[in-house]
Amino acid sequence: MNTTQYSESWNGVTKFIHWTFVLIILTMAIVGLTMEDIESPGTKIAVIAFHKSLGITALALAAFRLVWRLISKDPPKIPSIPTWQHLIAKITHALIYVFLFIMPISGWVMNSAKGYPLQWFKLFNIPAITAKNPHLADVAHEIHESAFWVLTALIVMHVGAAFYHHIFQRDATLKRMLP
Ligand code: HEM
Repeated sequence: MNTTQYSESWNGVTKFIHWTFVLIILTMAIVGLTMEDIESPGTKIAVIAFHKSLGITALALAAFRLVWRLISKDPPKIPSIPTWQHLIAKITHALIYVFLFIMPISGWVMNSAKGYPLQWFKLFNIPAITAKNPHLADVAHEIHESAFWVLTALIVMHVGAAFYHHIFQRDATLKRMLP
């Protein structure tokens, strides 16, 4: 299959959301996995506040992506891709969306249940979504941590599939999402 065939691109907004998510998730993963070990208390508080602000941004972006999905048109399916592969891709994408909601919501619940304040980049306060509850905070923390590794596995599959299509199938799967 030559790569110029069936290469109608994703629209600009979808590409923008996609690559913004790549940057956000990468940043959130690095910050989330390292922030607990920061020794200076002032820096640690600032970095955790940044993690929370960017996480709330990710939640808003995930909600916007869903709305955008409903009102925008996807490019046509690449005909050379078998239906079963297309189905697996659809399921993987749906699961990635689910986990893009689980991550920030579990973080928000954990923060609220711990009774911690929440501000968006020091600009405004965001209300708690649960009352203070140490047990719920522990459960939300477990979910936040485990869901991250499930999301990571899904992203590895997703990126692996994109490269498999590009390198071995030589179709336009990856090219049509590039900026
Ligand atoms: C896409 C969104 C998010 C991603 C990918 C993400 C990722 C992570 C990761 C990987 C960790 C380390 C987990 C561990 O090893 O314990 C973490 C910890 C944490 N996250 Fe998030 N997070 C997100 C959103 C949020 C939001 C919205 C909040 C709060 C409003 C939040 C609050 C926290 C807190 C407080 C911790 C530290 C938990 C602790 O060890 O006490 N996160 N996050």
